Amino acid sequence: MNRRDALKTVCIAAGTAALASLPISLVAKNRKNKESRNKRKIFYFSASGNSLYVSRQIAGDNAELLSIPQEIHNENPVYEAEEIGFVFPTYCFTAPAIVQDFIARSTFKADYFFAVATFGAHTTRLPEIFSEFTKEHGFTMNYISSVQMVDTYLPFFDQAREMATDKHTEEMIAKVKESINRRENYILPVTDGDKAFYENYYRGSGRDKVKPALTRSEKILFSEDNCVGCGICVSVCPHGSWKIVNGKSIANGECENCFACAQNCPQKAISIIPTPGEPRQEANRNARYRNPNVTVADIIRSNQQNQ
Ligand SMILES: Cc1cc2nc3c(=O)[nH]c(=O)nc-3n(C[C@H](O)[C@H](O)[C@H](O)COP(=O)(O)O)c2cc1C
Ligand code: SF4
Ligand code: SF4
Repeated sequence: MNRRDALKTVCIAAGTAALASLPISLVAKNRKNKESRNKRKIFYFSASGNSLYVSRQIAGDNAELLSIPQEIHNENPVYEAEEIGFVFPTYCFTAPAIVQDFIARSTFKADYFFAVATFGAHTTRLPEIFSEFTKEHGFTMNYISSVQMVDTYLPFFDQAREMATDKHTEEMIAKVKESINRRENYILPVTDGDKAFYENYYRGSGRDKVKPALTRSEKILFSEDNCVGCGICVSVCPHGSWKIVNGKSIANGECENCFACAQNCPQKAISIIPTPGEPRQEANRNARYRNPNVTVADIIRSNQQNQ
């Protein structure tokens, strides 16, 4: 069985038979006419489905959903719509590197710009940092808000406990959607407490403030003996930083620290190498999470490289 066939088998077993019939290169839902100025375009990045789920919920009927790990390869990245939105996970209180890189290389034209950061615990300075960042790249955000969901930072958060915690996600999504539909002008306020929390975190972690989560996959991940070489980690990685060698997966390449590979591995065969000096969670260390409304096939279509 070759890798693609193995991948299909695993996905079908996981209840995601759609993968077998869908072209892997299919990126966007409702992507009808790329050239026309449609009402709302939403650019999203999602490793474990939260941000994809939120994107779908706020998309409405005639929005176009575009995956950032696919669009980042667009050779003519000029995007126009009545409303343009960005939905992405919060990484160390800022936008993921791949989101920043995509925005930096693209041109956007719209009457209304919005962003929704999904997060697990705190966004702190993200709204002001993202607002400044987009201004530096030629456009001004009208609306920035956030939706609290399961925290997918696997080294620290017990995924079983996160899933059992009610974070009032649906209420937050409904509120954000209503505000965007009304084209509200609103940037989530950043308090002095948020600023102190942010500075304290960066002092302690020593991470780079601009792209804090960017790393090398081989530095933080490895596959265990129960890896069956199915290739799902290869397919969900937005940087294409896994390969299969002699029936086993090997991590090697640029890494977003997104944990799409570890969260979506059907064998739970991907382990995390602790970052020195960082506390790590001990309970339920093998618990894994993918948003219940999102399939492996959805994550593959969104993130797969080297198709
Ligand atoms: C590398 C990394 C860093 C994160 N940093 C933060 C953070 O600073 N604040 C926070 O509240 N959540 C943080 N999270 C949690 C995610 O933002 C949150 O779970 C998000 O909804 C995941 O979205 P996704 O399922 O679309 O990938 C982090 C997750 C990862 C993987
Ligand atoms: S690590 Fe997991 S997802 Fe990757 S090939 Fe092995 S079993 Fe499949
Ligand atoms: S190696 Fe894993 S954590 Fe790193 S970018 Fe790829 S999927 Fe994300």
